[in-house]
Amino acid sequence: MANALVQLDNFFLTYQSDNSFSLNINHFSIAPDSWVFIEGPSGCGKTTFLNAITGLIKPNRGHIHILGTDITKLNPVACDQFRADHFGIIFQLFNLIPYLSVIENIILPCTFSKIKKKKALLNSQTLVDEARRLCFELNIDDHLLHKPVNQLSIGQQQRVSIARAIIGQPDIIIADEATSALDQERTDQFMTLLLNECQTYNLSLIFVSHNKSLQSSFQQVYSLNHINETKLETRHVLV
Ligand SMILES: Nc1ncnc2c1ncn2[C@@H]1O[C@H](COP(=O)(O)OP(=O)(O)OP(=O)(O)O)[C@@H](O)[C@H]1O
Ligand SMILES: [Mg+2]
Repeated sequence: MANALVQLDNFFLTYQSDNSFSLNINHFSIAPDSWVFIEGPSGCGKTTFLNAITGLIKPNRGHIHILGTDITKLNPVACDQFRADHFGIIFQLFNLIPYLSVIENIILPCTFSKIKKKKALLNSQTLVDEARRLCFELNIDDHLLHKPVNQLSIGQQQRVSIARAIIGQPDIIIADEATSALDQERTDQFMTLLLNECQTYNLSLIFVSHNKSLQSSFQQVYSLNHINETKLETRHVLV
């Protein structure tokens, strides 16, 4: 059988400055080629969970296999490279570089990953052409392409962050509360665009949100409070 997209074993993570919170996951895995929705209320650890599986923070113990590679065994440089090569991340606060233009923000991941650059250049002659092509697909107007992103609306920035996540077709797209700043209409548009892109390029998707109404588009739905055994124990005591 193919390697799991994500597999956590014997996983425990707590913050030194706040040990009232912990993520405790004995075993959890996501099959390859999945679209997964993970829900949970504010503060339950969704961003922490995503930061762990993308190698941005290390767990106190346990193993995290991504497509067969145990990222807890990688040194920091190798871990950063692994993230750059295999993930496209839509952050909760977008994390676009404010003074760079739309095009510059979108092609940035290809400067950190030869794998992404190579894949992007299979579609277009240059990285700028590929960024333009994605902007066209994502309804980002031509007149915005050379503007610094801090002059864009939130909805426009969110579409730029999709383009930046999918350029070079990484194996896994991660979206952290990507619609939390949008009204219902913009949320629907965002979801349609994101899911279309994932389908077109055959990308796996891990979408995290407190908004359960978005879960209907997903093949698999998990509640982080059910995955997190710390929470299960707490609930058991409370009952
Ligand atoms: N860098 C940090 N240092 C210490 N504690 C932290 C840190 N980041 C998060 N926490 C704590 O860990 C818990 C989980 O935070 P996290 O950001 O993962 O939640 P979340 O589910 O993403 O919430 P939200 O839906 O509001 O984004 C919270 O109690 C938070 O205060
Ligand atoms: Mg969060």
